[in-house]
Amino acid sequence: MDTFTKLEALDTHVYLLTLNRPSSANALSSGLLDELEETLKDIQRRPEIRVLLITGSGNKAFSAGADLKERAEMGEKEVLAAVEKIGSTFRLLETLSIPTIAVMNGAAYGGGLELALACDIRFMSSSAKAGLTETSLAIIPGAGGTQRLPRLIGPGKAKAMIYSAKPVEADKAHAIGLVEYVYEPQFLLSEAKDFACAIARNAPTALKQAKKAIQEGLDTDLEAGLKIEHSCYEVTIPTKDRLEGLNAFKEKRKPDYKGE
Ligand code: COA
Repeated sequence: MDTFTKLEALDTHVYLLTLNRPSSANALSSGLLDELEETLKDIQRRPEIRVLLITGSGNKAFSAGADLKERAEMGEKEVLAAVEKIGSTFRLLETLSIPTIAVMNGAAYGGGLELALACDIRFMSSSAKAGLTETSLAIIPGAGGTQRLPRLIGPGKAKAMIYSAKPVEADKAHAIGLVEYVYEPQFLLSEAKDFACAIARNAPTALKQAKKAIQEGLDTDLEAGLKIEHSCYEVTIPTKDRLEGLNAFKEKRKPDYKGE
């Protein structure tokens, strides 16, 4: 069966989720969103998946955001429900306990860029563009864009992007901190995979607790954040992996972490 999302292993613990509607620039139709939600829930249940990459099929688009053809057929209530669905699916992605990496192989517009913003790290093709184009469509970013973009790049640059609705090229995206890495299209996925494999060699519990400490700490003041960090650190103390790390150091070998 042809599906709107594909999940495949690139390495033992590194998986690639592909948005798969290439003839519609991987726009987020309700069918794609239903599948994406189920796939994310499945990923959360599978301990062998330690790092998740997300990309778009084809070489033109990462995702063109909301499906504007579907949207044109909707009444006002349906539009609101559709926006909430995109938002809750991206929140599910953001709150996955494992590290996530957006591999922006092509245009990331509207909800497409909001999806990348819900990931931990962004890799972008040097030939791609990214933008929150919503105000040009007489709406606003509704799946977290007005909240996650200013937190990532600062309010001034976020307002410039959202008010102008203008997409930015990869070099600009990198310069303003919208993406962390830029590679030529032919190297993009392999570079992202290598980076993901390097992450996956580290201890799963440590990665999850680091993500939790950073995410939850960003939503609070420093004093409360330091307490969150401490309680996340505590979770790593009784793990077998922590002892394995110490033993590997002593024995001058690479650690073999089991997530225990
Ligand atoms: N929803 C539904 N279909 C979309 C879409 C969207 N958001 N974006 C693109 N498509 C469709 C096009 O209509 C076209 O289908 P068609 O062949 O039946 O006409 C197909 O995807 C390919 O798009 P096309 O514009 O021909 O390809 P391109 O490579 O020249 O441009 C984009 C790709 C993504 C840059 C361009 O389509 C675009 O700007 N889309 C709108 C993105 C947007 O503003 N999204 C914000 C939503 S809030």
